[in-house]
Amino acid sequence: MPGAEAARVPRHIAIVMDGNGRWAKARRRPRSFGHNAGRKAVRVVIEGCLREGVQALTLFAFSSENWQRPQDEVGALMSLFLRALDKEVDELHQHGVRLRFIGDLDAFDEPLRQRMQAAMTHTAGNRALQVNIAVSYGGRWDIVQASRRAAAAVASGELALGQIDEARLGQWMCLAELPPLDLFIRTGGECRISNFLLWQAAYAELYFTETLWPDFDQACLRHAIEDYARRERRFGRTGEQVAATS
Ligand code: IPE
Ligand code: IPE
Ligand code: MG
Repeated sequence: MPGAEAARVPRHIAIVMDGNGRWAKARRRPRSFGHNAGRKAVRVVIEGCLREGVQALTLFAFSSENWQRPQDEVGALMSLFLRALDKEVDELHQHGVRLRFIGDLDAFDEPLRQRMQAAMTHTAGNRALQVNIAVSYGGRWDIVQASRRAAAAVASGELALGQIDEARLGQWMCLAELPPLDLFIRTGGECRISNFLLWQAAYAELYFTETLWPDFDQACLRHAIEDYARRERRFGRTGEQVAATS
């Protein structure tokens, strides 16, 4: 049954790419060495999602809270993002990847913002896979920016207060145009969300692995997808109700 098989592949995967610092520390190298090593895992996961037919992949690269890290680490991450943008975008484009950046992009300096915008424009017509990179992103920030838009719509008279409901507010959240988040993966062993996609993860299946991000490979992705395929998603209904409709 191809239909049932397709339903087992998550349409939208999000990953908290955690553990780079510990990976580097285990090798007695600076944390930036770990961040750099994490680039390979990003490539591997994008290839895997293309192969599996996943429609959207959202990667947590830098949180709104990560600005609090030591200045040299933040600086190293910014230059890594710049290098990655310069090196990887063409290849992603050739693979039909549409690239999006989500988060408070105004927090970045002009050269980085321009590169991000150029990458989004360059790949805007691609359809094989949408890859969203969350930078200076926080789930609470996302809810606030959507609420501001709602407040502005009410203030201008475009909408009545009573028209603001979950569906309407949801339209203003990041990634609203994509399939709902099916699978939320976190590497590095911590079992927390760390202010990632708070709204969007409401009914995502959570998957935590001890594997540190630079070690995450095809087999790890396959394992996560297989685990997802075995879950029963009930969305508030009973198991019997789910069985009756599937
Ligand atoms: C995740 O790895 C990458 C970023 C937050 C930018 P960490 O840097 O948090 O690695 P650990 O958790 O310290 O090992
Ligand atoms: C979450 O990892 C952010 C990213 C992976 C980009 P952190 O390492 O910042 O999370 P906490 O601080 O351990 O919760
Ligand atoms: Mg961490």
